[in-house]
Amino acid sequence: MDKLIIQGKEILKGTINVHGAKNSSLPILVSSLLSEESLSLFNVPNVDDVNNMITLLKCFGAKIRKNKKQLSINCKNLKNISADYDIVRKMRASILILGPLLSRFGNAKISLPGGCAIGTRPIDIHLKGLEKLGVKFEIANGFVIGNISNKLVGNKIKLPFPSVGATENLIMASVMAKGETLIEGAAREPEIEDLCKCLISMGANIDGLGTNKISIQGVENLRKARHRIISDRIVAGTFIILAVMTNNKLEIKNVNPQHLVSLIKILLKMGANLKTLSKSIIVYPSKKINGTKVKTGPYPNFPTDLQAQLMSLMSISNGKSQIKETIFENRFMHVSELNRLGANIKVNKDTAYIHGNQTFKGAQVMASDLRASVSLVLAGLSAEGKTILNRVYHLDRGYEKIEEYLGHIGAKIKRKKT
Ligand code: UD1
Repeated sequence: MDKLIIQGKEILKGTINVHGAKNSSLPILVSSLLSEESLSLFNVPNVDDVNNMITLLKCFGAKIRKNKKQLSINCKNLKNISADYDIVRKMRASILILGPLLSRFGNAKISLPGGCAIGTRPIDIHLKGLEKLGVKFEIANGFVIGNISNKLVGNKIKLPFPSVGATENLIMASVMAKGETLIEGAAREPEIEDLCKCLISMGANIDGLGTNKISIQGVENLRKARHRIISDRIVAGTFIILAVMTNNKLEIKNVNPQHLVSLIKILLKMGANLKTLSKSIIVYPSKKINGTKVKTGPYPNFPTDLQAQLMSLMSISNGKSQIKETIFENRFMHVSELNRLGANIKVNKDTAYIHGNQTFKGAQVMASDLRASVSLVLAGLSAEGKTILNRVYHLDRGYEKIEEYLGHIGAKIKRKKT
């Protein structure tokens, strides 16, 4: 297991390019299962979750060619096997293959998924939605097994909560279902719009992109297509928070600022000095950063995936802050580790109370999930002395070689194999 050795208080400067979105790439890679024709993708990030998804799709017979610029995937000759536990347990997004496999084969068997240890994360919304399209499910021996009698049939589906994964699964299942599907209460995350755009270029008929009411007219088959993945708004947000924390001037490039409105609003309220351009955000040093109150929520509200990073900033801001986490239970595992570095945070149920004005001081810490790990990297870079971050594999799931990325702007981070 690798560890990172982070030297704090280095001056960071220059520009940093944000890579493609992991959370777009995963469903878009999966969408290739629907088609017998090739899909060429650009701006796919080289992160472990994406590489795991590629391994999973290869198990089903997908032919994948990849170079630095482009990834081509062809699913003409697929075999419908039961999805392997060893891959599925690593990544909750594996459940996304359920809809496309049912659409293609009429049956599917997938090991119940794993992923980050953040709450119970059930899949009931996925299953209930797919049942509306005619699927019968049973759960046996740790597998979810789905069958349809003939073809998926479009229907009206009302989601009880705007689950990102369930919305994506249902969109993919409906693209070639018979007739019309209407998904109400759908999630509106930009990655879902990106998936819809890719499916449309493959020949799907989808309306209501970016809204909570998505309608899909089933089509007979899909065609060859090319698609460029959007940039990763969570990675961009992480680097913006880093620049504010270290009080350096940094330009974060290859960003869609429209996807970061909730973060920008909060940072401006806290006193950050930001300039928003069409495809980049420049962070300038600021006089004083003050604490504030934030609540996470489904897009366009503040993303739970930036909660840990913002908490790191709040720990060294002036005065008190609060973060209420409404998406996941148990998503405060970074708190004890931030406290080891000198933060003063207390948690009561779904709310973290952050007493600001603290100074981070380097220590040994442990990564517990993807976003928790990066909040510790941010703390380490603004700390006095050296921080050692253990269990870096969590970080590698969603950030391309962070030590090299941040090394370009002056960060001193070394990876040590243990
Ligand atoms: C996606 C993102 C993840 C992000 C999350 C919320 C990907 C690959 N991952 O995860 O980075 O943190 O959205 O923005 O895109 N739930 C149920 N039943 C279900 C499905 C979900 O109760 O069937 C609950 C979950 O336990 C969780 C909440 O709904 O508490 C949100 O989950 P969901 O929106 O589905 O997140 P993911 O798609 O897993």
